[in-house]
Amino acid sequence: MRIIETVQEMNAEMKNHVLAGKSIGYVPTMGYLHAGHLSLIQAARKNNDIVVVSIFVNPTQFGPNEDLESYPRDLERDTALCEQEGADLIFHPTPEAMYPDGYTTYVETYGTITKKLCGASRQGHFKGVTTVLTKLFNIIKPTNAYFGQKDAQQVAVVEKMVRELNFDLTIVPCPIVRESDGLAMSSRNAYLTEEGRRDALVLSQSIELAKTMIGEGERSAAIIKKVMTDRIMTVSYAEIDYIDIVDAKTLDDVQVLTGDTLIAMAVNIGKPRLLDNVRLEVK
Ligand code: PAJ
Repeated sequence: MRIIETVQEMNAEMKNHVLAGKSIGYVPTMGYLHAGHLSLIQAARKNNDIVVVSIFVNPTQFGPNEDLESYPRDLERDTALCEQEGADLIFHPTPEAMYPDGYTTYVETYGTITKKLCGASRQGHFKGVTTVLTKLFNIIKPTNAYFGQKDAQQVAVVEKMVRELNFDLTIVPCPIVRESDGLAMSSRNAYLTEEGRRDALVLSQSIELAKTMIGEGERSAAIIKKVMTDRIMTVSYAEIDYIDIVDAKTLDDVQVLTGDTLIAMAVNIGKPRLLDNVRLEVK
């Protein structure tokens, strides 16, 4: 497995694979890999000739008061994990290589899809994501790109961008990987205190409650949200950024659940802001 750090070298390497007619499976990450990331690499390995993982903590998707500096990093461990999963290449550029001095070109998807949920509290976040992915897609030239449903809004935004900008690649959404007690895996779980790790279970528990209520016939978004909120607030210091029940494709609010539905939340449990969601077809 090779680690490539410059855009020029990566471009040249990938051009060869494209010319040779190889299919390229691509997994974009910010590193500090866990089983959630590894599930994407495994999916890519199954269906492509070449598997590329990028590890880049992308500065343009972090707000001024967010955790860019403290975001956990461990390239040595990440390299060993990529090797273990049979990846062929790691692309690990420096911020200067991706955003040289004087950089001013951005790609932005407008509308409800980027304004709501995480977009409401993380201004400019999705613009950073769509910009870096446009650059990475151009450099890596993937056939298939693998994304986790854990960041459901990211999947919806990237699918829309790829469709609207005519990128010739397929986005492959993959299921959320959870710890055995239900907590959705995240690099930011590393910020949880021991108490926070226990308390963080209210997120997945509230999702389970919602699923049970829907299974029993409840269709009112307001009632489901209230029950979820009550469960989360059993942790006195939890701060709910949002709990939203929306159409899974457009992210428009729904009052009465029907069809392809996303129930998504962001909650601070002490320092870390944690995400969880479920997407389900409501009959
Ligand atoms: P990062 O948070 O490192 O996540 C990389 C990929 O792993 C994303 O597609 C994310 O949804 C997926 N992932 C994270 N936790 C997961 C879990 N528990 N189960 C399944 N998949 C999971 O998302 C980003 O990086 C960045 O925004 C990026 C797309 C790399 C652009 O900078």
